[in-house]
Amino acid sequence: MKFWIHTYGCQMNERDSEAVGVLLRRHGHTEAAREAEADLLIVNTCSVREKAEDKAIGKLGMLVATHKADGAGTIVGAMGCMVERLQAALFARVPGLDFAVGTHRFSRVPDAVAGARAGARILDVGGEEACPGALTGHVAGRPSAFVNILFGCDRRCTYCIVPRVRGREWSRPGRDVTEEACEVVAAGAREIVLLGQSVMSYGSRNEVWADGPVSPRGFREPLTRLLEALSTIEGIERIRFASGHPSGCTPELIRAMAELGPVCEHLHLPVQSGSDRILKRMRRGYTTAVYRAAVARLRKALPGIALTTDVLVGFPSETVEEFDRTRGLLDEVGFDNAFIFKYSPRPGTPAAQWADDVPPAEKRRRNRVLLEDQERRGLRINKDHVGRGVEVLAEGASPRNPARWSGRTRTNKIVVFEPRPGVTAGDLVRVRVERARAQTLYGQIETAGEPRSK
Ligand code: SAH
Ligand code: SF4
Ligand code: F3S
Repeated sequence: MKFWIHTYGCQMNERDSEAVGVLLRRHGHTEAAREAEADLLIVNTCSVREKAEDKAIGKLGMLVATHKADGAGTIVGAMGCMVERLQAALFARVPGLDFAVGTHRFSRVPDAVAGARAGARILDVGGEEACPGALTGHVAGRPSAFVNILFGCDRRCTYCIVPRVRGREWSRPGRDVTEEACEVVAAGAREIVLLGQSVMSYGSRNEVWADGPVSPRGFREPLTRLLEALSTIEGIERIRFASGHPSGCTPELIRAMAELGPVCEHLHLPVQSGSDRILKRMRRGYTTAVYRAAVARLRKALPGIALTTDVLVGFPSETVEEFDRTRGLLDEVGFDNAFIFKYSPRPGTPAAQWADDVPPAEKRRRNRVLLEDQERRGLRINKDHVGRGVEVLAEGASPRNPARWSGRTRTNKIVVFEPRPGVTAGDLVRVRVERARAQTLYGQIETAGEPRSK
């Protein structure tokens, strides 16, 4: 069949969609050039906020209505986090849905498609066998590749549905990760992004280095040993990992970030709130003092590091004064980018039992205030780059304007520039920045081919 996968949610979902796409191809299906041409439509879902679920349900309903009305045998399926949360109830929310596959069952999507073609309605959820059978397929030739290192989450922040829909934490053996990284680099990737909900917990629940490797730099922690092993892969230019947690910003990790050439000067370190009372109620496992200390250690060892974050506004009982503390902390840290979210109660989480007492209009106000602050802050930080040369990993035509190319700096800033003959996706180029916006830098290629900057 001709498939099309529509993806909501985080980078982990993007990765799962990619791997399921590769798997479907191995089973003889082909990717459609456009959604309208597909006869196998899959929505990869997210449950993190109510709005994310509403969008996926709306999309599935629309797909059923527009693609299945002619009775020509088009299949519409759902996969991922919302399937795990709603299970059989999803079929009641989306009449006409053919299959629903949960987060531990991605390897069975082709079976679900076959079952649906035979006329059955397939629900495949639960179980935790996905990790040993993690899907490893990648689309060849992409300059940047996601590689899963940690599945699930054991943290249990009080607002968060992820532990429920993604299950217990499980770390992939270091050897599996390095093998997968070698394969994607051999297939053209220059950058590897290591994924995990709380990625610095890598290797804390299960053993990942049973048989080595010996660390030439004397590293003992599982993640630093992994970063060191990956850094030696021929052709790897950049390594990133997300998301971070202050408790994982150990002296050893920071030393690894400073010493290992390919490890980028960027960290996504979600802060969520600047109030200690709220952080405690969120069960985040750090205070603002601990967060600040982690930032100070990072900045000392890596003066040019870019920090990005996630913030939740309107958490139950958050006062205006507590919100102002968040505002102050964001300003103090000077984040390069911040993703701001309005709190949304998720059924079954501890926080959902507390009154969702910040009125919607006030949540919107807090959200807007932080977005406006970040716009100004991002612009100020980015304007400092004007007139300077930055190292960019060229990724190809910009999604917004195909006449322009885009790529990212080591600090994860998006750079838009004019393409030049001879420069291909996956090249490192030096771009002279001419203009800056809060989220994007614009410039011209100075030189193609860039010596390592570290
Ligand atoms: N594992 C990552 C976060 C994954 S979810 C971490 O802990 O750092 C991405 C972001 O969604 C979170 O950082 C949080 O800001 C937001 N989020 C999670 N649950 C939410 C909820 N119930 N309502 C609104 N935003 C939420
Ligand atoms: Fe959710 Fe907290 Fe785990 Fe992040 S660390 S996925 S916010 S429970
Ligand atoms: Fe990601 Fe959403 Fe699932 S944020 S882990 S896709 S609930």
